Amino acid sequence: MNIILLGPPGAGKGTQASFIVELKKVPHISTGDIFRQNIKEGTKLGVEAQSYMDKGLLVPDEVVVKLVEDRLNWQDTKGGFMLDGFPRTLTQAEALEEALSKIQKRIDVVLNIAVDANLLIDRITGRRICKNCGATLHAKYNPPSKEGVCDKCAGALYQRDDDKEETVKKRLVEYESKTQPLIDFYRQKGVLVNIDGQRGIKEVAQEIFEALKQ
Ligand code: AP5
Ligand code: MG
Ligand code: ZN
Repeated sequence: MNIILLGPPGAGKGTQASFIVELKKVPHISTGDIFRQNIKEGTKLGVEAQSYMDKGLLVPDEVVVKLVEDRLNWQDTKGGFMLDGFPRTLTQAEALEEALSKIQKRIDVVLNIAVDANLLIDRITGRRICKNCGATLHAKYNPPSKEGVCDKCAGALYQRDDDKEETVKKRLVEYESKTQPLIDFYRQKGVLVNIDGQRGIKEVAQEIFEALKQ
């Protein structure tokens, strides 16, 4: 199954992705995670991406499209894949359609995780990530048993650089102007499924599982 996770910053895409991966056994392709890995490794791509991410802006389409096109050629995508945070503009969505049609593939479902803007700031500023295993937690909504320490692997928890309130506000503006139009784009293609992302993590996962059964 070929899946797209759509939704504003902090909607819970990464959180739900970790459950979907278990269920569907498909690779989780998060463009944000790929950029953060490149920043950590100090690659040229990382340096370029960081200059946009720090400002809460989208990385230019040509950079992201090339990256995803390459990633979709990996063997592990043969049995399906899940894109998280891509596409994020109409240009990216159209480029993806074209790239997939060349390899006789299509998107089966777009899960649109909808959450009101006023909840998102709280979700993002409270987010904590494990330095060691990458697990995502939340200071209030999904707290670790011991403050600052990952439950899974005892790694140290940290906050993402772009999770400061001023940057989050800019990310939300980018989402509304550039990414929100994709909801209509995929609705017209008949693959959009709306998910109520405002409920608890388990309830949202349940709704997604039901949607993926159909
Ligand atoms: P990216 O890493 O994709 O960030 P994002 O889309 O802004 O989304 P987030 O990762 O912030 O949120 P999420 O939906 O994954 O939420 P999470 O599950 O963590 O992109 C970062 C940057 O990279 C972009 O700004 C851009 O610069 C660049 N970039 C990436 N892709 C690009 C592209 N295609 N084109 C151009 N540029 C690109 O959850 C958030 C928090 O809430 C967590 O703490 C979690 O525990 C908690 N939580 C989750 N679900 C619930 C729930 N149901 N109830 C309560 N709390 C919850
Ligand atoms: Mg994420
Ligand atoms: Zn960990």
